Amino acid sequence: MSGAGKGEGLEGITAGETAVCTLAGHMSYRGYTIEDLAAGATFEEVAYLLLYGELPKPSELAAFNERIAAAAKLPEPIVATLKSLPRNIPLMDVMRTGASMLAHFDADLADDSRAGYLRKTEHLMAQLPLVMSTAFRFRTGREPREFEPGKSLAANILNVVRDRDPEAYEIRAMDVSLVLYAEHEFNASTFTARVVTSTLADLHSAITAAIGALKGPLHGGANERVMDVLKQVEADGDAERWIRNALANKVRIMGFGHRVYKDGDPRSKIIKPFCEDLAKRTGNERLEKMADVIERTITTEKKLPANVDWPSGRLYHYMGLPIELYTPMFVCSRVTGWSAHALEQHENNRLIRPAAEYVGPAVRPFVPMAER
Ligand code: CMC
Repeated sequence: MSGAGKGEGLEGITAGETAVCTLAGHMSYRGYTIEDLAAGATFEEVAYLLLYGELPKPSELAAFNERIAAAAKLPEPIVATLKSLPRNIPLMDVMRTGASMLAHFDADLADDSRAGYLRKTEHLMAQLPLVMSTAFRFRTGREPREFEPGKSLAANILNVVRDRDPEAYEIRAMDVSLVLYAEHEFNASTFTARVVTSTLADLHSAITAAIGALKGPLHGGANERVMDVLKQVEADGDAERWIRNALANKVRIMGFGHRVYKDGDPRSKIIKPFCEDLAKRTGNERLEKMADVIERTITTEKKLPANVDWPSGRLYHYMGLPIELYTPMFVCSRVTGWSAHALEQHENNRLIRPAAEYVGPAVRPFVPMAER
């Protein structure tokens, strides 16, 4: 599976322009650093910023939240389909199916005006979390529950998944994680969304494809896999030894390394204190200490920084959330970044169609079937 040849993975290639986010110098969304946004803005404010280009005034945010609350229902045939799906399939597959099905019921599907894009994004922001929670409630033997208007996405997810009112510190930690997952320049799933959009396909097609790209363990799927790492290290009992062996055996350790950040992922630094706080409150200090030893050992041995998924997986675990929800929650946040990029691509579009360096056989004479 090695692909470290010339130009492979498009490493270091600038594949287009964007005004949505930059990682150069300091990671920022539309000019605001993620540290400032994580400290001072809610996920809903950040979603508005990504989509509309400016931080919302109070009245703009209230109207935005009202539109999303009004769109927070699933068409009955989608609920019936979610109920009929096998209970053991990955929830990310259900998210992909859900995004695709939602297209069939969105009256704005063919409206590719700016207003149409924004309306469809708001619908998806309202509906994808319901696809996740409805499917999850069915597979845990419960009937669907509606999201409460006036509550944040963070509060609603925690409430509907766990059937209990979340604590303020849990809502805050979840909200910060949604802020940090919302957008990240030309990552694989966003680039996928832009490629699909560049063919003039609709937004739902772009989002469905992006969900497929996010599922992979080298991308969003890593936040579920970090729990496997923690479980294996816990079973072994010696974190340093386990990591050294794993690195010596060329095991890819989920939650570490990044194509762009070689000296550290700023998102991981922001989430870590929330992990430490939740670990204390929930009696998970031993696991948190072990995670710290793992992080220090990998950084020292291999110079691989922890990426955003390393603390995110633990954060969700401390909140008592089941692992299968981790990447779907990433979808509920990143749909905002994907849509901002799809709109940007659509408004300044040229088909994305790169070239390849051919390494196959030279032209040779065709051999008819009877002579082969
Ligand atoms: N564990 C062990 N070795 C690693 C890791 C890792 N997590 N990541 C990179 N390496 C090694 C790799 O084996 C190679 O070593 P060598 O030069 O000795 O052969 C070297 O580092 C370069 O690796 P690469 O695969 O060419 O680097 P990349 O830029 O293509 O990889 C990455 C980026 C994120 C795919 C990779 O670091 C990785 O697989 N990490 C684990 C999965 C993960 O945590 N993904 C989440 C990414 S961030 C948020 C998100 O997208 O959700």
